[in-house]
Amino acid sequence: MSPPDDARHVPVLPAEVVARLDPKSGEVWVDATAGGGGHARLIAERLGESGRLIALDQDPGMLEKARRRLDGLPAAFVRANFDQLPEVLRNLGVEAVDGVFADLGFASDQVDDPARGLSFRQDGPLDMRLDPTSGQTAADLVNKLSEGALADIFYEYGEERHSRRVARRIAERRQAKPFETTADLADVVRRSVPRSGGIDPATRVFQALRVAVNDELGSLDRLLAALPKVVRPGGRAGVISFHSLEDRRVKHAFRAAGVWEPVTRKPVEAGADEQARNPRSRSAKLRVAKRVS
Ligand SMILES: C[S@@+](CC[C@H](N)C(=O)[O-])C[C@H]1O[C@@H](n2cnc3c(N)ncnc32)[C@H](O)[C@@H]1O
Repeated sequence: MSPPDDARHVPVLPAEVVARLDPKSGEVWVDATAGGGGHARLIAERLGESGRLIALDQDPGMLEKARRRLDGLPAAFVRANFDQLPEVLRNLGVEAVDGVFADLGFASDQVDDPARGLSFRQDGPLDMRLDPTSGQTAADLVNKLSEGALADIFYEYGEERHSRRVARRIAERRQAKPFETTADLADVVRRSVPRSGGIDPATRVFQALRVAVNDELGSLDRLLAALPKVVRPGGRAGVISFHSLEDRRVKHAFRAAGVWEPVTRKPVEAGADEQARNPRSRSAKLRVAKRVS
């Protein structure tokens, strides 16, 4: 039996997010990645009746979950990629906000649903889109991109050392039969790469494809570039990232002198207790900055 919705959406670093972002009564905030609504609820409770939370998610199913979790609190829900944040705010008639928060990546509900094709641990269609209604699927990329382009994706976004060999095996196999399922791809990857340590060789290739399918780094770059325009002077921005490619970008953006001053000098990480309770928190890094007045 699956746990009830609320128990599944345990937000990472909850106390740290609230303490560092410090949302206050009457303020207007954006949760750019509403997901199951865990952080969104914590922030909205701080904003009170006179404040407002604007919750974004590109996945309509997740946005619905956030809506249910925030029932009764002053919030607006918008289905959008967070790289559209300036347009979203313009459409709502909001000029600037007191803060923006993003908890990158995907929610456990998305990974655990085999129909989304995000996990190599269960068989499903090779999809991986966080917005299930638009864009190319992972199967499109795996079956259509050149061998060289696939190798670049595995190397750049998955830091896979054997990227060329994996891409070659994929290109050979797809001549006989195109890839359709996660299990099929994971099987070919596992046969191409020696297992090292306890990590399944499919981990890096699946991460790389997910990043490519959803243009995750491009979206993050556009969000980071938009933040100084939408956060009012004195307002805060916070991002939780889960791998070095994301964290590097956040760190660099929040270092812009004259734009941000650091609230967290080093990234905040989960303590041993949280890591034991919530495995997802193990790679989480929270960085927060304050918009220079
Ligand atoms: C880690 S979950 C957020 C969990 C949430 N903080 C909570 O406490 O329940 C990330 C969510 O962000 C969404 N997401 C990822 N990239 C996005 C993007 N570029 N634009 C909008 N939503 C995005 C995913 O669909 C997912 O629902």
